[in-house]
Amino acid sequence: MSSHHSSLKILAGNKTIGLHPEVYVPSDDSMLLAHHSRTLSRGKVLDMGTGTGIQAIAAAERAKKVLAVDINETALRLAEKNARLNHLSKKISFRKSDLFSAIKPSEKFDLIIFNPPYLPTSNSERTSGILDAAWNGGKGGREVINKFLRQFAQHLAPGGALLMLHCDLADTGKTVKALTASGFSVRIIDEIKVFNEKLSVLLATY
Ligand SMILES: C[S@@+](CC[C@H](N)C(=O)[O-])C[C@H]1O[C@@H](n2cnc3c(N)ncnc32)[C@H](O)[C@@H]1O
Repeated sequence: MSSHHSSLKILAGNKTIGLHPEVYVPSDDSMLLAHHSRTLSRGKVLDMGTGTGIQAIAAAERAKKVLAVDINETALRLAEKNARLNHLSKKISFRKSDLFSAIKPSEKFDLIIFNPPYLPTSNSERTSGILDAAWNGGKGGREVINKFLRQFAQHLAPGGALLMLHCDLADTGKTVKALTASGFSVRIIDEIKVFNEKLSVLLATY
């Protein structure tokens, strides 16, 4: 694997975000969610699947502490660099984790942010390499989402909330139903159409 580091950067609000060829490039989904990550953050925040760190960095403005995790180590290194670039390293810590595998049951968060891999793909469509994990949602786009939905609630502090980006290609209604069935009240707080996709921002609270 090449150790080439791209010096490409993008602007997200007032933040500068460096990119890397092996890390998910912030797209319309990221930008839509980042606005809410910034305004809704407080206390302890978890950014699941941090990628470039864009949500963690947006959240760090108002949060006390942010934990950013990803399954992709290159993403974690890039996110750490981006936190430094925006003078937010003191507030954000980084950890490699496959969903909640490296997060202790005793670790609780006031806000959990997740922009999941959500594209429905069959095995034959899978690309090799770590970037695949950035967008490949598996069967129906829901493999990672379903696993996440079974695990996140035990990591919410009392009064905590889930802020999640959802694409209709992965069946937003199904996620709303699953959350409602486990006792959350769910609001769609933002929505945009990009080509053939509808992107929604879900806020789930108890
Ligand atoms: C759609 S990208 C979102 C990146 C970033 N949060 C953003 O908004 O631009 C999904 C991210 O989730 C990570 N990811 C995929 N599966 C994961 C898993 N099982 N555990 C942790 N992170 C995962 C990917 O590596 C990728 O960085």
